[in-house]
Amino acid sequence: MAQNDSHYVPAFGLSALTPYYDSFAKLVNPYRRRLIHHAKVQPGQRVLDVGRGTGLLTMMVKQAVPEARVTGLDGDPQVLEIARENSRGADIQWDHALAFDMPYPGGSFDAAVSSFVTHHLTSADKVRAFKEVRRVLRPDGWFFILDFGPPFNFLTRIQASVMKYFELTADNFNGRIMPMLAEAGFAEVEEAERFVIPFGPLSLWRAGRGIKGSRSLVTSAPKPPRTIVQ
Ligand SMILES: C[S@@+](CC[C@H](N)C(=O)[O-])C[C@H]1O[C@@H](n2cnc3c(N)ncnc32)[C@H](O)[C@@H]1O
Repeated sequence: MAQNDSHYVPAFGLSALTPYYDSFAKLVNPYRRRLIHHAKVQPGQRVLDVGRGTGLLTMMVKQAVPEARVTGLDGDPQVLEIARENSRGADIQWDHALAFDMPYPGGSFDAAVSSFVTHHLTSADKVRAFKEVRRVLRPDGWFFILDFGPPFNFLTRIQASVMKYFELTADNFNGRIMPMLAEAGFAEVEEAERFVIPFGPLSLWRAGRGIKGSRSLVTSAPKPPRTIVQ
C-alpha cells in the first residue's frame, strides 16, 4: 500500500510511551550487533545513525569503535533528551532533524546506519530519506539498515500476512525496501542477513552509495535465516 504524505511516528508509536521504549528495544540488541558487524566501522570514520531514537545503536557503534566520530540524528526532541542522558557524556554528536532534510553538507559521512526506522516512514518519505542519506555519504560510503523485511518461510509468511496490513510496515513486508534504495540512487543493494523475531521477519540490508548514473545492482541474500534466541 503506497502512501504519499509525511506522517511522523515516534519511537514507540505514541509519545506517551516513549519513556518505556528502551526496556523493550534492548531485546533486539543482538540484531543491532549484526548490523555493526557488517558495517565494519574503522577508527576515525564518520558514522551517522539515522532515526537513532534513544541512541541504542548509536552508542553500540561508539562502544565498538571508540575512535569513530559518531552522530545520532532523530526528528523527535523527546528521544533526544533520553539519548543524551543514556550516553552519559560519551563523545557523540546528537542532532535533531528529519531523515529527509539533514543539516549536513554532501559527503559528510563514511557510513550511515539505521535500525527499526524505515517502518516509521511513509513510502514517499522512505525514498526521500534514502536520497538524503545517499547525499550525505562519501562516494565510497555504505548505508546499513535493519528493519522488518519480506517473509521467507512458512512462519514469516503468517507473521507478514498480519503485519503488512499496518500501513507503514507494508513496504517492508512486501519487499519494497531494496527497490526503493535503488530508486534513491544506491548503486549496490544487498540483503546481507535475515532473522525472525516474534513480530515478524527482519532483514539487514547494505547499500553502496556508488556514483551518480551507475546502474543499480539489487541482490537478495540466498543465505539461510539466523534466529537469535532472546
Ligand atoms: C522504532 S524507533 C528506532 C530507534 C532506534 N534506531 C533503535 O534502533 O532503537 C524509530 C525512530 O525513528 C524516528 N523517526 C521517525 N520518523 C522520522 C523522521 N522522518 N526523521 C527522523 N527520525 C524519525 C522516531 O522519532 C524514532 O525515534
